[in-house]
Amino acid sequence: MIDTHSHIYLEQFDDDRDEVNRRAAEAGVTGIFMPAIDLDSIPKMEKLKHTDISFYKMAGIHPTEVSDELPEDLESKLTEFCSRDDYYGVGETGLDYYWSTELVEQQKKSFHLHCRVAKEVQKPIIIHNRDSTDDMLEIIEQEQDGSLTGVWHCFNGTVEEGKRALNLGLHLGIGGVVTFKNGGVDKTVARLPLEKMILETDAPYLSPTPKRGKRNEPAFMKYTAEKLADIFGLSLEEVDKQTTETARRLFGLDQS
Ligand code: NI
Repeated sequence: MIDTHSHIYLEQFDDDRDEVNRRAAEAGVTGIFMPAIDLDSIPKMEKLKHTDISFYKMAGIHPTEVSDELPEDLESKLTEFCSRDDYYGVGETGLDYYWSTELVEQQKKSFHLHCRVAKEVQKPIIIHNRDSTDDMLEIIEQEQDGSLTGVWHCFNGTVEEGKRALNLGLHLGIGGVVTFKNGGVDKTVARLPLEKMILETDAPYLSPTPKRGKRNEPAFMKYTAEKLADIFGLSLEEVDKQTTETARRLFGLDQS
């Protein structure tokens, strides 16, 4: 299995990162993609060395970390990082109107900027979206010139929104929320194509049931995979095979 979205480099794992990674490997995780939160995330990611698990870096500014004025050199800096062979995506970026709507214009500007970088370096964009689906999809529509790829991370939209995202060339990142009893995300996911889904944890956040409320870690992704198997009437192995293939194709792992 590949965890396509995990902040394993954060301080929440400083005390037991090796243990966490060992448990992930035992649970069948072979690769972990690390979306950045800001530029300070990058030196922390650089410290992670391949073990039984391969670690894949990405660079970007999370929408809740966007400042009043975007640094002038942000686009060139992100392009520089993301064009390197050991960077696999642009993000995370996107929109978040839940925490604050004060900087909506700056968030949109930053999201557009990340889209441009993704097209420039030909790598997928990692999209965070909270209470902002219409605007998020509209920006993707504006930026899509046939070359933009990416993932709607932690997908929790409606069937219609999911289909619209797929038509715009996006994939759907399926995380712990699909296991929540009251969310209804499982019913939505059931009506969308598994071939366009990839697995993720968003560790240390959003632990799946039965670990809900605890610190999330990549090993817990098995609960999300089991839920998908349940939804689609497949074995865990089949879900693993399909989602791993999709992730490898999306992030270009088979080309290198
Ligand atoms: Ni995240």
